[in-house]
Amino acid sequence: MNLRNFQIVKSGKDNKNLKFFLKSNWNKLQKKYKKNGLLLFRGFDVNDLNDFNQAIKSIHKKVVNYTEGSTPRSKVKGKIYTSTEISSKRQIPLHNEMSYTSKYPKNLWFYAHKVSPKGGYTTVADSSKIYKQIPKKFKNKFEKKKVMYIRKYGVGFDLSWQKTFNTQSKKKVEEYCRKKNIKFSWTKKNNLVTRQVHRFSIYNKFLKKRIWFNQAHLFHHSNIDKNTKILLKKIFKTNFYSRDSKFGDGSDIPNDYFVKINRILEKNSLNIKWKKNDILLINNLAISHGRRKYSGDRKVYVAMTNDAA
Ligand SMILES: [Fe+2]
Repeated sequence: MNLRNFQIVKSGKDNKNLKFFLKSNWNKLQKKYKKNGLLLFRGFDVNDLNDFNQAIKSIHKKVVNYTEGSTPRSKVKGKIYTSTEISSKRQIPLHNEMSYTSKYPKNLWFYAHKVSPKGGYTTVADSSKIYKQIPKKFKNKFEKKKVMYIRKYGVGFDLSWQKTFNTQSKKKVEEYCRKKNIKFSWTKKNNLVTRQVHRFSIYNKFLKKRIWFNQAHLFHHSNIDKNTKILLKKIFKTNFYSRDSKFGDGSDIPNDYFVKINRILEKNSLNIKWKKNDILLINNLAISHGRRKYSGDRKVYVAMTNDAA
């Protein structure tokens, strides 16, 4: 897989309807998608969320909900969401979607409805290359111990449990956690705290390669910027992190692990420079994605699927 040479699927003069284009060309495109892990559709008449939805539905039976999410997102139509509502001043490091939990989507569909005038690129990388480049010493430790994700919902800067689990019912959350083997407790103020342990990598059978597949770096407190840390300390009078990651046995992950991993991520990042109405399809089990900082207005939407592609 060489991402730097990935091909853009351009519309023909008389073939600008992505829904029809996909219906008649998907068999051919699917091979390309499996090989490269991503497809960028450019020049099609995808003018609104309805066009986007129809294009997805032309090859997928089902679009999935964003449950147990980690980024602030709003549902805008059906099961289409804003890609993220994290401040434009913050870069989002590379990651594989929902790799911190047991249920993750296979395909990610991004739709660039409004392109920011400066920055705002989506970054992508080959997760098998990332895995390969992580030092053996780190990998051995992570593979053996795995990653623990700790979340304190509704305090600090994490989302509320109601928004994360799409429900107002504590009982439903508890049932969900039990089913998914997530350890949970409630604080005196009715806030939820969860702990779950998951893999550091997964094996992609099609590529016959192991890929980096976790979000230890995003959850770890070293990922919080200085000003936010100061603010949190002021509010909570102690070092408080509403999210954190540890090794699966509860021991601390040394900071230098993340310094090294973040360097590897940056080295492998490829900027996707959006054009208005671009659609990007990403295989979440092969390719990681992130976002550069930006200024001005940017509207990128996302939908997730598991079937067909
Ligand atoms: Fe993401």
